[in-house]
Amino acid sequence: DRQQANPPTQTTHLLQRQGVACASRKDLSLNALDMSEAVSSRDGAGHESIADTPAWQALVDHIPEIEETHLRYLLKDEERCLRLSLEHNGLYSDFSRQRVTPKTLELLFDLAKEAGLKEKIEQMFQGEQINETEHRSVLHVATRADRNQELIVDGKNVVKDVWTVLDKIKAFSDQVRNGEWLGATGKPIKDVVAIGIGGSFLGPLFVHTSLRTEPIAAMKAQGRQLRFLANVDPVDVARALHNLNQETTMVVIISKTFTTAETMLNARTVRKWITAELGESAVSKHMVAVSTNVKLVSQFGIDPDNTFEFWDWVGGRYSVCSAVGMLPLSLQYGFDQMEQFLEGARDIDQHFLNAPFEKNIPVTLGLVNLWNISFLHYPARAILPYCQALSKLAPHIQQVSMESNGKGVGMDGKPLKFEAGQIDFGEPGTNGQHSFYQLIHQGRVIPCDFIGTIKSQQSVYLKGEIVSNHDELMCNFFAQADALATGKNAVELRAENVPDNLIPHKTFTGNRPSTSILLPELNAYSTGQILALYEAMVAVKGFVWGINSFDQWGVELGKVLASKCRSKMNSARTQSRLIETSDGFNFSTTRLLNRYLKGKTF
Ligand code: F6P
Repeated sequence: DRQQANPPTQTTHLLQRQGVACASRKDLSLNALDMSEAVSSRDGAGHESIADTPAWQALVDHIPEIEETHLRYLLKDEERCLRLSLEHNGLYSDFSRQRVTPKTLELLFDLAKEAGLKEKIEQMFQGEQINETEHRSVLHVATRADRNQELIVDGKNVVKDVWTVLDKIKAFSDQVRNGEWLGATGKPIKDVVAIGIGGSFLGPLFVHTSLRTEPIAAMKAQGRQLRFLANVDPVDVARALHNLNQETTMVVIISKTFTTAETMLNARTVRKWITAELGESAVSKHMVAVSTNVKLVSQFGIDPDNTFEFWDWVGGRYSVCSAVGMLPLSLQYGFDQMEQFLEGARDIDQHFLNAPFEKNIPVTLGLVNLWNISFLHYPARAILPYCQALSKLAPHIQQVSMESNGKGVGMDGKPLKFEAGQIDFGEPGTNGQHSFYQLIHQGRVIPCDFIGTIKSQQSVYLKGEIVSNHDELMCNFFAQADALATGKNAVELRAENVPDNLIPHKTFTGNRPSTSILLPELNAYSTGQILALYEAMVAVKGFVWGINSFDQWGVELGKVLASKCRSKMNSARTQSRLIETSDGFNFSTTRLLNRYLKGKTF
């Protein structure tokens, strides 16, 4: 039975490893650096990479031990299962379905020690400029710090600044919500359109989606709408403004830099939508902004009193606890609800900073995730909430994780000698089961994060049914993780009289890793916990890999080329001519641009 279950899995992993090794060699050659050079520079110049350490090598040496095992047997080991689950303040995480043993964990903790993980976490919390390429501190944790905490950066207590803005958000959102703040025609504000993209959109959308159906939050939001406008696509504009009345709408422009092309264009468009109906003077009553660039906000015509500041030490994708999320969400749900969200995030921050590694959930999950990526060579992770209200978790974490750790060089600028980053994607269960789970069960091995809640935000009971909708949902949460881990082998299939020709098709190799995270319920507090948990996991991996998880140079080139397209397209249009290769585009792009231009104007 054991032998039947193991060989296909091992073969799959072996093939995968070889595939990945080829891919990485190819990438390195694109960087004009082949593997032999990388190795000799490591040996010769003593280039410090975590991959050169004995702790890394010990994990490499440990791989065969794990390859020899199968999760269906590991899961019979009660001691191991107890050791591989952690709980903190209601948040329960079970990683016994990961391809790890207590020994793997010990080796991972050694690696973390070698990488100076504890010191790096502390440096982050102390406000050191760990974002070296942008000379910035990384202090999103300060945006949810307790009011009485002190954190001095450049001689200033940043927590005091944080709470000055939070107090302003409370006062403003209270005024709007209780009808003291009136629109230009004297009507109270009911609806909010938040304009922003990337980190100025995905985090707030995730939290909003999480709270919409939570009974207390929903009660607080009664009669109000919060909509988001992110894409520069005119369709998104039309959808965001559909059926809204300018007189009762507040527009919140959210942009850290206040230069992002999409956001600024959308802001101008929506400003026109307001002023065309209510006149220029209505801007002060219907438009507010969240930004670090107060000067540009004021040039746009927004009163500094209506500007909610944050700081360059908050990364865009880590900014949901600053005014970026707190302003639109407080307008919708009230500041008190949102304060609970901050408390949940703070709870995990404190746990992350203070708990010993063996009891530290984000550290352990981050290290296990790193093991999957860099040692078992799984290139992706699926985030699978069995909770519809978490449907925007995966899109948010895509940015947090992939923009942070999707890097090819270390802090020292040298190419990495291992895979870092991962492809994150996901959908709520059970929807995903009817879509891409086939691949996860019998195709590529993709470690999964299953997230569920003990209590639902909504209870639906059909008379006479014993199992509620939520029970039904959660049965799938438990079943999927076990199906992936244990699989089904030929012996079992034969016992079920499956004909021989169908056995290969119906075999599940199993041994497919996952983590199960169980929360008491999803509310503002636990939404904050989940957010901070994923943010911390990302930081753990980046710190151990020795990369800068807090810059994002990789998004710049496309922006520059889009701006070149914009200016060449404008000049071609004004001169009624087509684009030429002398405009600086390659042949293929010239053809594509002209096809577009001809369709549009000529
Ligand atoms: O293009 C990527 C990015 O810079 C993200 O990092 C950021 O979250 C997003 O654009 C929006 O930037 P801003 O808040 O400055 O408009």
